[in-house]
Amino acid sequence: MQRRPEPELMTEAEQARAYAQADSSEPNALFIRLLDALKPGELTGARALDLGCGPADITLRFLKAYPQAECDALDGSAAMLGEARRALDERPGLARRCRLVRDVLPSTRIPQSAYDLVLSNSLLHHLHDPQVLWQSIRTAAKPGASVLVMDLMRPPSAMWAESLVVAYAADAPEVLRKDFRNSLFAAFEPQEVVAQLKQAGLSELEVGVVSDRHLAVQGRLG
Ligand SMILES: C[S@@+](CC[C@H](N)C(=O)[O-])C[C@H]1O[C@@H](n2cnc3c(N)ncnc32)[C@H](O)[C@@H]1O
Repeated sequence: MQRRPEPELMTEAEQARAYAQADSSEPNALFIRLLDALKPGELTGARALDLGCGPADITLRFLKAYPQAECDALDGSAAMLGEARRALDERPGLARRCRLVRDVLPSTRIPQSAYDLVLSNSLLHHLHDPQVLWQSIRTAAKPGASVLVMDLMRPPSAMWAESLVVAYAADAPEVLRKDFRNSLFAAFEPQEVVAQLKQAGLSELEVGVVSDRHLAVQGRLG
């Protein structure tokens, strides 16, 4: 099935609120399990960067799982960062180790070679040019840094996409069902991501299929 890009930033207040209120506990818990499998010991005390943090649920889960770590959480949408601020305010203990950054990728403001860990969940499929993510990771990560990127995977057909919408968003508000459907059409196939990594000079990172609708890119930079 042909890729159909969607708008990059999630700028609408209604869209950001619906996304923040949706139950993402299953994929977000999977993200943390994948992170734990990566190099748990080495992430203690890590300085991390979460790219496209949205409402910061992944950021907060990371800070809870790694009590010595700190995280800069970046997003280009003021509406999403408003949701992130709200979530952080409810968890002041974790929020102390988090800094929200409003910035649109590609950015010239990301500190270079500064992070031990770069995280990103569900950003890649938003980007019209996927190299924006891979080059941002190259810029931000220290040599030897760990990377975990998880995203939706484009299904083989429109009917397949629709069956995923029915399976995972049947009871969700219309704005969320529409976003989920558009995101499935905008997502990449695993082989496309392998080619993107090769082009970015990041072939040391591995691509895997981690659920019926997600792929993950993980590993350590050389
Ligand atoms: C589907 S949400 C994922 C949010 C969060 N990572 C999560 O897992 O729940 C994608 C986020 O990426 C942000 N985004 C998309 N393109 C971006 C860009 N070029 N620069 C910065 N943020 C971007 C959107 O505003 C949105 O908040």
